Amino acid sequence: MGRSGRQAAGDWKRNAEYEKDREYLACVRDILDSGIFQSMDQYVQHGATTCREHCLQVSYLTYRICRDRGWDARAGARAGLLHDFFLYDWHTHARDTGNRFHGLTHPRTARDNAVRWFQIPEKEQNLILRHMWPLTPVPPRYKEGFALLYADKVCTAAEVAAQAGAAFAMALRPRQLG
Ligand SMILES: [Fe+2]
Ligand SMILES: [Fe+2]
Repeated sequence: MGRSGRQAAGDWKRNAEYEKDREYLACVRDILDSGIFQSMDQYVQHGATTCREHCLQVSYLTYRICRDRGWDARAGARAGLLHDFFLYDWHTHARDTGNRFHGLTHPRTARDNAVRWFQIPEKEQNLILRHMWPLTPVPPRYKEGFALLYADKVCTAAEVAAQAGAAFAMALRPRQLG
């Protein structure tokens, strides 16, 4: 990833840079403004990051990677926002439903929800459906799908590292005296 991609990953929470990026917002405004997308704030994805925040980070990073290469940045942005649009708490999903294979099944659930709520085209569906490759066996059909794979891994690693860092800091905090 080039400097712009790394910068996007690091800048997102500090500056909410996406909020000032009019071209990005023009691609995704309908999704961002919808109640169903905002409802993902009730589900934690990793650490202190909600599903909505995670999807925003992944979307904006995918968008910038694609834009910088002259790829279909709009498809990357929209599929990024909806790639984890499964609409449940995956931490309790196995206990609640008996489905122990969230990692394998959630791309299809997210794709089906995205079609239902936003009528997305085939290309964006493919990006969502294949975003867990190689855990799921079929790779993305489009190069933008590989940008999404990459952005998802980078953002997930950053979220998990932040959680581990916070736990580490708590473990090292000075004990109260007395
Ligand atoms: Fe996912
Ligand atoms: Fe994800």
